[in-house]
Amino acid sequence: MIEKELLKRNLPNLLLMPNGKRVSSVKEWESVQKPYLKEILLREEYGKTFAPIEPKITSKLNAVDFSGKAVWEEIEFLFELGNKSHAVKTNLILPKQKSCCPVIIYINFRPDIPDRYLPVEEIIDNGFGVFSVCRGDIASDNASFDKLASVLISERDDETGGLLMVWAYMAMKMMDYLQLRSEVDKSKIGIAGHSRLGKTALLAAALDERFAFVFANDSGCSGAALSRGHCLGAEKLEHITVTFPFWFCKNYLKYIYCDDELPFDQHYLLALIAPRIVYVGGALEDTWADNDNQFLSCVSASPVWKLYNKDGLVYPNRLPLVGDEFMDGEVGFYLRAGTHYHSRTDWGICLNAIKKKLNV
Ligand code: GCU
Repeated sequence: MIEKELLKRNLPNLLLMPNGKRVSSVKEWESVQKPYLKEILLREEYGKTFAPIEPKITSKLNAVDFSGKAVWEEIEFLFELGNKSHAVKTNLILPKQKSCCPVIIYINFRPDIPDRYLPVEEIIDNGFGVFSVCRGDIASDNASFDKLASVLISERDDETGGLLMVWAYMAMKMMDYLQLRSEVDKSKIGIAGHSRLGKTALLAAALDERFAFVFANDSGCSGAALSRGHCLGAEKLEHITVTFPFWFCKNYLKYIYCDDELPFDQHYLLALIAPRIVYVGGALEDTWADNDNQFLSCVSASPVWKLYNKDGLVYPNRLPLVGDEFMDGEVGFYLRAGTHYHSRTDWGICLNAIKKKLNV
């Protein structure tokens, strides 16, 4: 049944190298195919990364108690280049009882701690630290390219990174900072995000191999979901490239009605994260995010995990049903009841699975 669904979509073959041969080893994947696919995605969809700037980092709020269980610090990243500068505020909350803990970087819609999408106390109770930032403090979610975007970008050409790349850049700077903290287990730093920020989380994990895991909740179109063969009611390129052109590079806009003929598809993005852990989530009523196509993207990316002798997605031979949790492999997929939201149910599914995988 799944085979039939995939045939219908006629996806570009992940493992077919530019010389016409099929990737047969990790070495070939890492040296030839992975850089080749990454180049395509950056050039045609997300845009190129930006020149590195070393931010000046200062602690604003030092070691404040958080519910008796954790320590909360407010840390500011000041980016300066030429006559432009912008400071981004972040929140680092580390559990008290652990000397070396895993940490989840979270780019949120709002700066609140905790927030309706970010249940900090529950995450701490599960043994993880949280390092969060608000997307609007990095750059406004519109075409103005202000704040950090104005520091990173002087002029936008067809391949200049869009806002998803700006937000992902900040996540990678937060990752740099965590390397300096002795309380953090550097081998267990992950990133999570919801919707447009789930797209961002996937992009950051694809670009930065220090991310050991990623949770992308309801990330949908131009995130985890395949563009080919959208299900009824799902978001298409004609929607996203018109309403949110500034999330991408300008090149992406030329594919406006070409969902089925793209020279790539979103399983490339997931595959770049192999052999690390990627959990993709959907909500039944969120047809806009195209749950079947998120699931099929996980299926189609999985052969790359197989090259590493890892499982990829472990699933039954059918499309997902509400309540499914396919969380046994390095690629996970779940479909919960309800609407577009980053809920405690989503967090619970991902945290339980990751704890088993990473021995937390
Ligand atoms: C819009 C957009 C989606 C996006 C979502 C969100 O619905 O079309 O692509 O994921 O916003 O970020 O909430």
